[in-house]
Amino acid sequence: GVSPRLNQMLEELLEGIEDGLVPAWIFNDPELFELEQQKIFSRSWVYMAHESEIPQAGDYVLRYVANNPYIVVRGEDGAVRALLDMCRHRGMRVCRAELGNASHFRCPFHGWTYRNDGRLVGVPAEREAFGPGFDKAEWGLRPIPRLEVFDGMIFGNLDPQAPPLEEWLGEIRWYLELVTKRSPAGLEVLGPPQRWVVNTDWKLALETFLSDSYHTLMTHRSLIELGIAPKDAKYAMYGEQIHIPGKGHGSMVVGAPPGAKLPPFWGYPEEMMERSKASYPSREQFETAKETRILLVTLFPNFSFHNPIRKPDHKYQGTVPMLTFRVWHPLGPGRIEIFSWALVEKDAPDWFKEKTRHSYLRFFGSSGTFEQDDTEIWSHVAHNASSSQGRTLRLNYRMGLSLEPDPNWPGPGVAYGLNFTDANMRNFHRRYVEMLLS
Ligand code: FES
Ligand code: FE
Repeated sequence: GVSPRLNQMLEELLEGIEDGLVPAWIFNDPELFELEQQKIFSRSWVYMAHESEIPQAGDYVLRYVANNPYIVVRGEDGAVRALLDMCRHRGMRVCRAELGNASHFRCPFHGWTYRNDGRLVGVPAEREAFGPGFDKAEWGLRPIPRLEVFDGMIFGNLDPQAPPLEEWLGEIRWYLELVTKRSPAGLEVLGPPQRWVVNTDWKLALETFLSDSYHTLMTHRSLIELGIAPKDAKYAMYGEQIHIPGKGHGSMVVGAPPGAKLPPFWGYPEEMMERSKASYPSREQFETAKETRILLVTLFPNFSFHNPIRKPDHKYQGTVPMLTFRVWHPLGPGRIEIFSWALVEKDAPDWFKEKTRHSYLRFFGSSGTFEQDDTEIWSHVAHNASSSQGRTLRLNYRMGLSLEPDPNWPGPGVAYGLNFTDANMRNFHRRYVEMLLS
């Protein structure tokens, strides 16, 4: 059960959200953290890995859903599984690396040995220790209750009763496909993810990617002054902000500033966009892609991607887009681990793969200019949210409260033709509190 204190706070959030008020305490609270683990991270489809991270039989990566370590591994049969990294004998972890290739996992405690499909195949001194009736088939590694793949994106869910992934995604799929279906060959990761720990809350990081174009005016101002970001400080505003009601997902589809000459299709090479004409499921998606310069998609609860047009280095004439996938993984109250991948279309030319990696490294990831601006700020907000006075304040989520949806937007969801709005955040918090209370 939820304590009276927490219940009152959740009611306060539920009532306040329609009026654009969010209590600061939700960004740093030990009791709420525990409730999120149970009600949200144990019942949601959580992004774990991309298929291209484990292309060969035996390839594996370690990933986390709530506080559970999973070995996401491709078996000899080609199937992808997520196996709880916990020996069935006495609970030791059987996989000691974050990625690799293995036909078997041998527990370092007493040596029980599992095949990469989870079956227990070796028990030291089996007969002497456990006698003739011991049935190894009953003692395999436990698979994650649910696992599904969408266009190469591997998701896991701890709830056996969860709705299918497709239903969970709903209409956000249209926006996901702008990236996953840009090439018929699909995406591949450019190496393992960069990972770093930040003293903040997962919701603060997520909100920025979900809805907060407004912060670029100030947070990233120095980049504008240095000529690293576009000259028009409102460059992230010229587009649509879209949310999927009832789901918590959202997107921002940003075009070119008025009068600015930016290449079509984010600056992807023409040959690639030629292929996308056949690859995109609909004409509307292709036409939308043509006008897009920055695309962000966030999936409830803790996945985002960001796909902006960028300059890979200061000497390069022209721009090269970059794509990063994100997981905002909660570690504890006021503490997260960020997983950040760079991805590219599998069939992109080699020069492009090299340059897009540079664009990514320069702007995002642990050393990226934009990234460092953001993370520093998120950590101070999370600290204030736990302070004795700070936790009693309500924060302002009122931007764009009176905006009317854009009836001409060709994509699904509720769209606003102006990025000066917190609509996506309000939609996220509605879903968030509903899930906590259900
Ligand atoms: Fe793994 Fe004993 S805990 S073999
Ligand atoms: Fe930012």
